[in-house]
Amino acid sequence: MTTLGSVTVMPAIEVRNLVKEYGEHRAVDSVSFEIASGEVYGLLGHNGAGKSTTVEILEGHRSRTSGSLSVLGMDPASAGREFRDRIGIVLQSSAVERELTVRESLDVYGSCYSSPRPADEVIAMVGLEEKANARIGSLSGGQRRRLDLALGIIGDPEVLFLDEPTTGFDPVARRQSWELVERLCAGGMTVLLTTHYLDEAEHLADRVGVLVGGRLVTEGTPEQLMAMSPTTTVSFDLPSGIEISALRLPETAERVGHSVRIETEHPTALLADLTSSAVALGVELPGLTVRRPSLEDVFLAIGNEDDR
Ligand SMILES: Nc1ncnc2c1ncn2[C@@H]1O[C@H](COP(=O)(O)OP(=O)(O)OP(=O)(O)O)[C@@H](O)[C@H]1O
Ligand SMILES: [Mg+2]
Repeated sequence: MTTLGSVTVMPAIEVRNLVKEYGEHRAVDSVSFEIASGEVYGLLGHNGAGKSTTVEILEGHRSRTSGSLSVLGMDPASAGREFRDRIGIVLQSSAVERELTVRESLDVYGSCYSSPRPADEVIAMVGLEEKANARIGSLSGGQRRRLDLALGIIGDPEVLFLDEPTTGFDPVARRQSWELVERLCAGGMTVLLTTHYLDEAEHLADRVGVLVGGRLVTEGTPEQLMAMSPTTTVSFDLPSGIEISALRLPETAERVGHSVRIETEHPTALLADLTSSAVALGVELPGLTVRRPSLEDVFLAIGNEDDR
């Protein structure tokens, strides 16, 4: 809970010491986090890290072993119709009646909510206009996933749970669905997202949490996580007729074929030395690139550390 002056702001989602055991196996191990109203929170982690288990407990679809939860001020384990009315769910794998058409399925799901969005509006939002009258069984994998997203937002939810929403999407559809989520969030919706696409988390999430073996090991904004890895990578192709020793480079420079790659915590000084020595030789450095660590680099580093 956050206090702003005299006003206390309730987070949309509050998780305290959540534990889920499947027999002997502890799939979620004392996880705690909060998601503010209107925030997009990304849960990252390898296969089996406990993402879906956590999300499904928050949706009220799975029981917990222990811990306390609040979603929109309600406990999902005991909440009823009001809770269902205010949340939207995109499961990792859903089961919708294959014989229904896209529009029929949205009408059926919409009728479960007190103030659903019009089916045609949602069909347009996810870009399924051409398939509105197609049977669900005839949709491609990516089109099915778009329908899942449509079913998640048909009830105009305040909190949306997205478990790997864009798996199977082509790159254009992924971009479109990001824009859709951004538009929905601009309207104040809170989102809990799981994804294996780190560019998706980087793009969409205000904050991310990384689960490793059921434990939440790191949490922060994507920028904060990226700042945990201080190295910048500088790379270029060696100009023809120039030996690597002719350029002013640190000993850590690696040469792979014609390419040279250096990881540095001091890119400014390195670039000054490198480019001034190239200019003195009168050569261009083809493909000169400076790359900051991505969320993916940090994620892989966290995973490797844990393996060790
Ligand atoms: N119904 C179940 N019974 C027993 N074990 C389960 C059950 N559901 C999940 N598990 C186990 O709990 C762990 C966490 O699974 P979960 O589905 O939450 O992972 P995830 O992070 O969503 O993985 P993925 O990226 O593959 O979707 C895994 O080891 C999984 O095998
Ligand atoms: Mg999962």
